[in-house]
Amino acid sequence: MKTDGNKKIISLHLRTHAFCVKMDNGYKEKIDLTKLPRHIAIIMDGNGRWAQEKGEDRLYGHYHGVNSVRSVVEGASELGIGYLTLYAFSTENWDRPMEEVTGLMELLVQTIRKEVPQLNKDNVRLKVIGDLSMLPPEAQREMNEALKETENNTGLTLVLALSYSSRWELEKAVQNIAMDIQNGKLNADDVNQSTLEKYLSTVDIPDPELMIRTGGEHRVSNFLLYQLAYTELYFTNDKWPDFDKEKLFKAVWEYQNRERRFGKTGEQIRNK
Ligand code: IPE
Ligand code: IPE
Ligand code: MG
Repeated sequence: MKTDGNKKIISLHLRTHAFCVKMDNGYKEKIDLTKLPRHIAIIMDGNGRWAQEKGEDRLYGHYHGVNSVRSVVEGASELGIGYLTLYAFSTENWDRPMEEVTGLMELLVQTIRKEVPQLNKDNVRLKVIGDLSMLPPEAQREMNEALKETENNTGLTLVLALSYSSRWELEKAVQNIAMDIQNGKLNADDVNQSTLEKYLSTVDIPDPELMIRTGGEHRVSNFLLYQLAYTELYFTNDKWPDFDKEKLFKAVWEYQNRERRFGKTGEQIRNK
């Protein structure tokens, strides 16, 4: 009797487990491939807390975060997403303890060195936005090489936001516009939104339709402030090392179930 009872429990457990796995894995099939976001941007947050919960050093979380990057890049490529922007390091992150900053820069160099062959295999083109001049020389070299080695790829464009912040970007844009006006290259009366967009680091990159932030915080932390004007925001409590392509598929599916109104009424959108 006892064994039978255990068998029943085990079988119920297995079935429940299979059901859960299925629930988590079923989103890719539900996605409408004709209505994909062209550009997904992600604030990869929660590495430090993920590691600290396990009694480990914050860097342990950053190392594990690389697996999530790999999975999400793979997932975006599988779907046929055009642009994936990953917020990897902010202007403000330079103020973190020196060991963490140094560790992150080392991880960056190692990761790029290791991943470029795979990016090429997957036809992924790498791009960077941010103040690269702030990076250690070795990281700059590695990055420039990776950019060159992947520049002819025609699949997903992977944009790394590195030493990036929106206010830095806007400050630079305004400075350059002012300089071009001063040099007679630009007329102040002609400056409009499309001029400004040409001076942003995201020139030639469409605005993101979907922005995901992991790690449970509900803020944008100086990320693409101008470009996110009409982006759908998706927040999850999953910390970045626990995020993967299945969770990306779930976010895309949820995005597809939202109504984007751009200031119009729901009726106007539905009767289009
Ligand atoms: C995001 O994780 C990665 C970077 C900012 C470089 P955090 O390091 O911010 O992790 P938490 O938010 O402290 O958990
Ligand atoms: C945002 O995360 C920056 C990156 C993920 C690179 P932070 O951890 O720096 O953001 P705050 O400080 O919680 O706003
Ligand atoms: Mg954080």
